[in-house]
Amino acid sequence: MKNLLFIGDVVGKQGSEFLISKLGKTKKQYSIDVTIVNGENSAIGNGINKVSSEQIFSAGADVITGGNHSFHRFNAYDIYSNPYILRPANYPEGVIGSGVCSIDYGAFSVAVINLMGNAFMDPIDNPFSVVDNIIPNLSTPNIFVDFHAEATSEKKAMGFYLDGKVTGVFGTHTHVQTADETILKNGTAYITDVGMTGVEYSCLGVDMQEVIEKCRFRMPAKFSEAQGDCFMCGAVVEFDEKIGKSYKIQRL
Ligand code: FE2
Repeated sequence: MKNLLFIGDVVGKQGSEFLISKLGKTKKQYSIDVTIVNGENSAIGNGINKVSSEQIFSAGADVITGGNHSFHRFNAYDIYSNPYILRPANYPEGVIGSGVCSIDYGAFSVAVINLMGNAFMDPIDNPFSVVDNIIPNLSTPNIFVDFHAEATSEKKAMGFYLDGKVTGVFGTHTHVQTADETILKNGTAYITDVGMTGVEYSCLGVDMQEVIEKCRFRMPAKFSEAQGDCFMCGAVVEFDEKIGKSYKIQRL
C-alpha cells in the first residue's frame, strides 16, 4: 500500500509560504509516498510562474497541476518545459505544455492527468473524450486525475465515469472543500473539491471587501490577496500500487 497526498489550490505568496512551512511535516505524519499540488493560483497576482512553481517543488511536491489560470502569466510559459508542471490536458492540440505525466518511484509508478471542466468555464476540448484517449496509453495502474472544474455535477459525473479506470479523481478550482470524499464502487477515490491553501478568512484567498464590491456593483475590479492566518486543505488516499485501487480517502 502507498499513500498519496493531494493539496488544493495554493493561493498567492502566503499560500506558497504556508505550504513550505507545512507540507514536509504533513508528508511525514501521513507517510506520504506521492505528492500532487494544484498551483495555478500560486504566483503573486494569480497564475503560476517560475518563482511560485519553485516554491511548491521546494515544499515537497512531485507534480504541480493547473487549471484556468495556468496561462495567466504571459512571461512564464517556459515553466511548461518542466514535464512535472501540468496544464489541463484538454487544451486544444498545439498548446504549449502537457496535461499528463508519469513518475517512476522505483518500486511503482504513478501517472497524473490534469483536466478542466467545461460548465461555467471557458470551454476547451471535451474532458471526457480527452481522458478516454489518454488512459489506454498509460503504462501504470496508478492514475490520479485533477479535475479543475466549477460545476459539482460535472465533477461528480467525471468521478463516476472514471470509477474503476483510475485510482483517484480530485476536484479543484472552487477553493471550498466538500465533505463528500468516498471510495466509489470500483475502487476510485473521489472528492468533489479538495479546497484551497492560503488565507482562511477570505473569499477564496482574495480580500473579501474587494469581492463584495465586485458582487455589489458589477464594475471591473482588481483583486488582491487577503491577509491573515493560513490553512492547508487536501486529501490523503491509501492505494494498492500493484493494482491501482484505492481503499481509503481522508480530508485534511
Ligand atoms: Fe481555477
